[in-house]
Amino acid sequence: MRILDGKMVSDSILSETSGRIERHIETSKETIGYTVKRPAMAIVIVGSNPASETYVRAKMKACEKSGIDSKLIRFDENITAYDLLTEVKQLNKSHFDGFIVQLPLPSHIDADGIINEISAYKDIDGFHPLNFGKMSIGQKAMRPATPYGILKLLQYYQIETKGKKVVVIGRSNLVGKPISIMLGNDFEIGRATVTSCDINTPKELLDEETRRADIVIVAVGKRNILTADMIKEGTVVIDVGINRDEGGKLVGDVDFENVSKKAGWITPVPGGVGPMTVAGLILNTYESWKSKYFINE
Ligand code: GUN
Repeated sequence: MRILDGKMVSDSILSETSGRIERHIETSKETIGYTVKRPAMAIVIVGSNPASETYVRAKMKACEKSGIDSKLIRFDENITAYDLLTEVKQLNKSHFDGFIVQLPLPSHIDADGIINEISAYKDIDGFHPLNFGKMSIGQKAMRPATPYGILKLLQYYQIETKGKKVVVIGRSNLVGKPISIMLGNDFEIGRATVTSCDINTPKELLDEETRRADIVIVAVGKRNILTADMIKEGTVVIDVGINRDEGGKLVGDVDFENVSKKAGWITPVPGGVGPMTVAGLILNTYESWKSKYFINE
C-alpha cells in the first residue's frame, strides 16, 4: 500500500502557484503595461462552528503560502439573511478575485439562496449553479474545490482513470455528485466508468459494486463505511470523510487500518483530501485572478 500524500502535494501546488504569481507580477509591467496587484481572497464566516474555524485557518494559511492576500469577514450567528446577502453583493463588486461563504450557515439562513447570489466569476468554491452546470458539460468553470483537489492528487501520482471502474459513495452537491461527473467527463483525468452510490444503496449491492471497483471514493461522513472485505486487492481508495472517533481523534469514512493492508493507494485522514481541497480553492483563486489580466500563460 502506498499513501496518497495530500499534504505534500498541496504544499507543492501552493509553492508552484506562489512562483507563478510572483512571475506574473514581476513581468506585468512589460506584458500588459502596468504592475498588477497580487490576488486577493475573502472568507465570510458566520458564527463560530469549531470545524469551520479550523478550515478557515487552513485556507488563510494556504493563501499566505501562495502569495494571495486574504481577508476574514466575521458575522455573528444572528445575522439576518438580508444582511448576509448585502455583504455578498458588495463582495461581488469588490476588488477580491474570489470569495467563499463558509458552510454550514445557521439554520435560519437558506444556504442555497446565498450561494446563488455569489457572482459565478468570484465563486472559488465552485458551488454556484452556473459553475456546476458548466463543469458538468465540460466547459471551463470554477470547479468545486474538493473534487478539483482529488483530480489533482490522482494526476500527481499518475493514477489512470481512463476506462477504469470508479465507485463513488455519497452524492452531496459539494463532493459526491461533482466528482462523479468530473471523472466521467472526457478529460485527461476522467473517461472513467462511474457508479454513484449512497447510504441508501442496499449493502449487498454496495459490496458488489465496490469489489469490482479500481477506484473507490468515499464521501459520506460516517465512520467505517468502507471495510477491507468490500474491496479487491490493489484498489485506489480516496477518503473524503471527516469524523471523530471515541477518543476525539480525526478519522475518515474508511476503516484505514484494515483497508490500507489491501489497497494499492490510499489517502490518510488527516493529510489526504483535506489539504487538497485547500489547494483546489487556491488554484481557483489564482485562475480567477490570472484570467482578469493575462490572456495566455
Ligand atoms: N464547509 C465544508 N467544506 C466547505 C467548503 O469547501 N467550502 C465552504 N464554503 N464551506 C465548507
